[in-house]
Amino acid sequence: MKKTRLAFIGAGNMARSLVGGLIADGWDPASISVADPDKEQLSALASRFRVHTDTDNHKVTEHAEVVVLAVKPQVIRDVASDLAASIQRQQPLVISIAAGIRATDLQRWLGGNCALVRCMPNTPALVQSGATALFSNENVSNAQKDLAESILRAVGLALWVDNEDLMDAVTALSGSGPAYFLLVMEALQEAGQTLGLNEKTAKLLALQTAFGAAKMALESSEDAAILRQRVTSPGGTTEKALAVLEEGGLRVLFNDALKAARDRSQELAEQFGAR
Ligand SMILES: NC(=O)c1ccc[n+]([C@@H]2O[C@H](COP(=O)([O-])OP(=O)(O)OC[C@H]3O[C@@H](n4cnc5c(N)ncnc54)[C@H](OP(=O)(O)O)[C@@H]3O)[C@@H](O)[C@H]2O)c1
Repeated sequence: MKKTRLAFIGAGNMARSLVGGLIADGWDPASISVADPDKEQLSALASRFRVHTDTDNHKVTEHAEVVVLAVKPQVIRDVASDLAASIQRQQPLVISIAAGIRATDLQRWLGGNCALVRCMPNTPALVQSGATALFSNENVSNAQKDLAESILRAVGLALWVDNEDLMDAVTALSGSGPAYFLLVMEALQEAGQTLGLNEKTAKLLALQTAFGAAKMALESSEDAAILRQRVTSPGGTTEKALAVLEEGGLRVLFNDALKAARDRSQELAEQFGAR
């Protein structure tokens, strides 16, 4: 059993998923503590996972080797500033999963000079199928990097980026990405219904096709482009459909969409950091 002492600040959706994933991965519930102002939320978590809970952020942080900040970006500055003295005293690894909060801003709020990993997970983490990018500051040791990676891997894929500016690109691709695929599924379902399929059939076929294509691509060592060519027979139906999508500018649209999301991510980080 893994017994690193973990403290979660915030017991919302992401913290619940991470705690569930860690326990399924063999972490000792007795080494996990969670703080949140909502007592009902805490007692649900305690009875489901047998973890320690408290309404006081300081109490759970007291003996932690890793502190995971799992609160909304709007409140993280106050939460971090309030914990600064204990973080400076304890020197734990701090992991932030708050979208758009830069490591330099967080480090400033925590009183400076702490080991900090900033993560950008995405919504499928809630079903243990997330994609998370991680960035570590210069104070994080290799052992702490391994620890951070093993924590985020409890809810899916975890990959490192070595330049924090790339977190805005990550936000544009995988952070906002689930919504792009949901839009495609919605559009496929609607198009199927237009061709005469009933709603339930069109929906299930669209969803399972998306899932199957992703599973196939993940399990193959080939690029998506090669897999696509293999399922596109010359003169066949897929070729006709793909030609319509290419002529309609699908690639340009995705390029523009990701640039727009990246720019907005930069703006939001400036706003949060300036407060
Ligand atoms: N959900 C996702 O898919 C996703 C994806 C990427 C990144 N993230 C990031 O993950 C973080 C958590 O997201 P979430 O979806 O889990 O949010 P959430 O469900 O709202 O959870 C946040 C929790 O923190 C609690 N909280 C508020 N103020 C607090 C304080 N001062 N001390 C301790 N706890 C406090 C909230 O309690 P109240 O409800 O009582 O305020 C709530 O239970 C966010 O920063 C978000 O940007 C989430």
